[in-house]
Amino acid sequence: MEKRKILVTSALPNANGSIHLGHMLEHVQTDIWARFQRLRGNQCIYVCADDTHGTAIMLKAEELGVTPETLIADIKREHEQDFQGFLVSHDNYHSTHSDENQHYSSLIYNRLKAAGQIKTRSVNQLYDPEKNMFLADRFIVGTCPKCKTPDQYGDNCEACGATYDATDLIDPASKISGATPVLKESTHFFFALSNFTDFLSEWTRSGTLHPQVANKLAEWLDAGLQDWDISRDAPYFGFEIPGESGKYFYVWLDAPIGYMASFQHYCDQQSGDDAPVFDDYWKTDSTYEVHHFIGKDIINFHALFWPAMLSKADFRTPTRVHAHGFITVDGQKMSKSRGTFINAKTYLEFLDPEYLRYYFATKLGNGIDDLDINLEDFVTKVNSDLVGKVVNIASRCAGFINKQFDGELASEPTTGLVEEILNERDNIAQLYEQDEFSKAMRQIMAMADKANQYIAEHQPWAMIKDPNKRTEVQQVCSDGINMFRALMIYLKPVLPSLASRAEHFLNVSPLVWDDLATPLGSHKLNKFKPILARLESKDVAKLVEASTQSTPEQKPKVSEPKTEPTEQYISIDDFSKIDLRVAKVINAEHVEGADKLLQLTLDIGDEKRNVFSGIKSAYQPESLIGKHVVLVANLAPRKMKFGVSEGMVLAAGPGGSDIFLVEADNGAQPGMAVT
Ligand code: MSP
Ligand code: ZN
Repeated sequence: MEKRKILVTSALPNANGSIHLGHMLEHVQTDIWARFQRLRGNQCIYVCADDTHGTAIMLKAEELGVTPETLIADIKREHEQDFQGFLVSHDNYHSTHSDENQHYSSLIYNRLKAAGQIKTRSVNQLYDPEKNMFLADRFIVGTCPKCKTPDQYGDNCEACGATYDATDLIDPASKISGATPVLKESTHFFFALSNFTDFLSEWTRSGTLHPQVANKLAEWLDAGLQDWDISRDAPYFGFEIPGESGKYFYVWLDAPIGYMASFQHYCDQQSGDDAPVFDDYWKTDSTYEVHHFIGKDIINFHALFWPAMLSKADFRTPTRVHAHGFITVDGQKMSKSRGTFINAKTYLEFLDPEYLRYYFATKLGNGIDDLDINLEDFVTKVNSDLVGKVVNIASRCAGFINKQFDGELASEPTTGLVEEILNERDNIAQLYEQDEFSKAMRQIMAMADKANQYIAEHQPWAMIKDPNKRTEVQQVCSDGINMFRALMIYLKPVLPSLASRAEHFLNVSPLVWDDLATPLGSHKLNKFKPILARLESKDVAKLVEASTQSTPEQKPKVSEPKTEPTEQYISIDDFSKIDLRVAKVINAEHVEGADKLLQLTLDIGDEKRNVFSGIKSAYQPESLIGKHVVLVANLAPRKMKFGVSEGMVLAAGPGGSDIFLVEADNGAQPGMAVT
């Protein structure tokens, strides 16, 4: 069969944080697929890079007092180490802040522009007047316009789930400086995605995507595509748009182009006849393959924007986009307080990476359902499958062959089971090809069960006592070793380092898929040494402990009962920082121009306070006068459009007309502390 030429990628990790097990799931998935392809004899080049641009990285560098360039160089080193630690076989790991990426980003942009697919439009956006920069939604906080929960981001409310525009927030503030944002106009550049509805409706159904993913995209396509805003104003860490000053490419424009950049960088380092050529892979009519592995959260970027851009910029579109779901631990999101938000680096301090590679493989299918990790199940599976089933076959048989037969295997298999296991190769190959790793692992373990049964039935340890049965012992154990060898070939994409230890024991050159066509006969083995240790629960417990972050204020005191620190709790010390006071409403009135606020004048004993409160939908101002309410008296004063608010009154309820002020009995004197 002709060798396939394949380029594979994993999504480019953001350069503002550490690699955690969620990222690692994706790289392990990609790596298993890439190693499988290579084992089959295909040429498979696996590239990745750090995604380095954008406001978050710019601000993080500023916070750390370093240049963005220094920050991303440090993080890149750390990321590369983590991936090597997990045996991820990237052929090249590059950066989106590179010459190659600037070259291809400009090239693609210019081609899209020449094709009439770039438009400009004036946009009104919230702007931080202190920091002199436009604010993306996640850099604006304020009170939810719907349920009135404070401290919500500019796009949606975590408390009630409402989505809105940042301009709808009550009392918006810049997360960066705390200033009240103002609306400001600016010219933005758009990619005319709306021109691609027909193209994408067809492309997403052309076998490039799992049907589950195509269906999800169909919802967006049916709702109608909007043009895509691809520019950001200075200050921004990224590439300036060619021919424009102070305008930068939005990070998501140059991020996928980073795949090309990393590949170009790789090509430039290769020489010789086999060296890949960029255009062979990326020209429009290429028969070579390009495969992207990504998480379900970034499907629109890879299956809408990206193919649309490529198609109008004279490049080929991806052969397939493989999407996976998110990791949950014990059915819940990874959590720092529960110790289940585990960084790759921390994992490697305690455990062998192949344990997790195998466990991930047993979980991965080809859809986008989330994958639940259960730490107890992790220990059980690794020990019972890998140690108890697979490696056990070798350790049961090796001793007899080594000691009794000078390491020499019988000349050919006798049981049909060896053949049966070798003959599963097309099935297993198909499962790997289709990303059905969990099904592949199940079938491999079913074969391992059969192999163990076979050995148990023949009891070489009993037969060896009978001098007439020596040949039979050699035969049974040789068959066992052949079954072990086949299983190791099947598992090699998942467990490359275990496979290499097995190769040493088997005394063979690196195993490849084609070796499944012929069993070993009259072959001399090396001495067997244990090749895989059991996974110990106590090491998993150590890992969880090392990953558990208590809230910084939590100072454990001997006298306090031991409770598990979780993110929901604050300490009594935290609570006592809040100064709650009884306040008497001495005046209340409407605020001109504000549709949600009332202005309250409060008496708290020794002083008066002016407070703006979002309770207009529930109360007539007159009805409030004389009430005793509860004021958060030491909340930092907040400058608002209508004046300064000096505190916050407590209320309950979902919002609208259902807001209920917390009241103190009239006997309570203004200024009394609420405890
Ligand atoms: N920088 C972008 C990708 C640009 S690709 C041109 C990005 N970076 S990320 O660091 O946030 O995520 C990188 C990949 O990790 C994404 O595919 C994302 O889906 C995946 N995961 C991040 N957290 C995850 C889990 N908890 N579980 C599984 N995958 C997750 O997005
Ligand atoms: Zn809300």
